[in-house]
Amino acid sequence: MSVFTLCLFLWPWLSSIHGLEFRYHNSMEMEQYLKDVNRRFPDITHLHSIGKSVEGRELWVLILGQHPREHRTGIPEFKYVGNMHGNEAVGRVLLLQLIDYLTSSYLSDPLATRLLNSSRVHILPSMNPDGFESSARECTNTKGRYNKNGVDLNRNFPDVFESTTDREREKEVRAVMDWLKTESFVLSANLHGGAVVASYPYDNSNGGSELQGGLSISPDDDVFVHLAQTYSYSHSDMHNENSCSDLQDFSQGITNGYHWYPLPGGMQDYNYVWAQCFELTLEISCCKYPPEAQLPGLWAANKPALLAYMQQVHLGVKGVVMDSYGKPVQNAVVEIAERRNICPFRTDRNGEYYRLLLPGNYTIKVSWAQVSGVVLISSWSGPLKTL
Ligand SMILES: *[C@@H]1O[C@H](CO)[C@@H](O)[C@H](O)[C@H]1NC(C)=O
Ligand SMILES: *[C@@H]1O[C@H](CO)[C@@H](O)[C@H](O)[C@H]1NC(C)=O
Ligand SMILES: [Zn+2]
Repeated sequence: MSVFTLCLFLWPWLSSIHGLEFRYHNSMEMEQYLKDVNRRFPDITHLHSIGKSVEGRELWVLILGQHPREHRTGIPEFKYVGNMHGNEAVGRVLLLQLIDYLTSSYLSDPLATRLLNSSRVHILPSMNPDGFESSARECTNTKGRYNKNGVDLNRNFPDVFESTTDREREKEVRAVMDWLKTESFVLSANLHGGAVVASYPYDNSNGGSELQGGLSISPDDDVFVHLAQTYSYSHSDMHNENSCSDLQDFSQGITNGYHWYPLPGGMQDYNYVWAQCFELTLEISCCKYPPEAQLPGLWAANKPALLAYMQQVHLGVKGVVMDSYGKPVQNAVVEIAERRNICPFRTDRNGEYYRLLLPGNYTIKVSWAQVSGVVLISSWSGPLKTL
């Protein structure tokens, strides 16, 4: 046997023992890694690009799950997005580590196995690869934050509270908006750096009834607070106030986005209002681009939180709306009494709905227009308990 083939045999073995190296992988190395994972785990991964950055880099998404290539009824879709601010590099590193962990522990670790058997996980490690490549490797510098056109991608989405139609949508933002149309995502988070806090919608307000005591409160505030606390308390120190010793004092490590600072055109409000996908903004490191020696510690601090957050995709109710012939109904409005969402939640093309709710007693109203124009309404009430 030649030395070369021996190396080929040894390499996958060594890499699965030691895991992915804790360092910053550039865009080419990241692409290589994702392709390699996809080759090594073809049954539980699917790699695709949702578009290109301004400079032509692919926006790679790795899907993980028991059926990675397609949606299955009853399996909710989850996503993580990293590095939308190119110089906030820790999220990108942690999402690659998460991929490494989930793939290498599938069928050996019960939690990873349960997660991939019961949900479909989409990971976009870098939404702004151009920004990443041009970053100054510093804690507070903004070089690399914006995309190649100098635009802040987290200000470039349509905003329900103020008109942003005059703004041109950047390629990276359009790619994400199109991506949201292809799947019915239920839960999501986008990962940032420069603080340690879990921030939840709304990020903006126009002074309407949502504005309460300096917070911009959504109809699903109870669920969002629970989601943010799930992350902050599963994290080694986010729930401790003032994790970054910079006078930012976040009680329990969570904050309403608007209360922290108003932010128009953000991705989190867009996901929630228009794509019925609950999204948090997770600030996961005090330093935006820390020295590589700190990466193992940041992974250890965030790993339990990343996993606990993913499990929340199963909160609440899910089901299929069927007509009297047992045929699934697309686009039916599924409303929870007392929760007036700006855009009512609807069933997807398979007639499915997913609705994150805390344990309680709810009335669910389902309505749809038939071809004749008659609106059918049915409702169901009952207590919801945690399993
Ligand atoms: C997960 O799915 C795999 C493949 O179908 C199966 O072998 C395994 O027993 C399942 N494990 C759990 C914990 O559901
Ligand atoms: C749930 O609420 C409905 C409507 O208010 C009420 O009729 C029902 O008794 C409640 N059920 C429970 C178990 O609390
Ligand atoms: Zn950011």
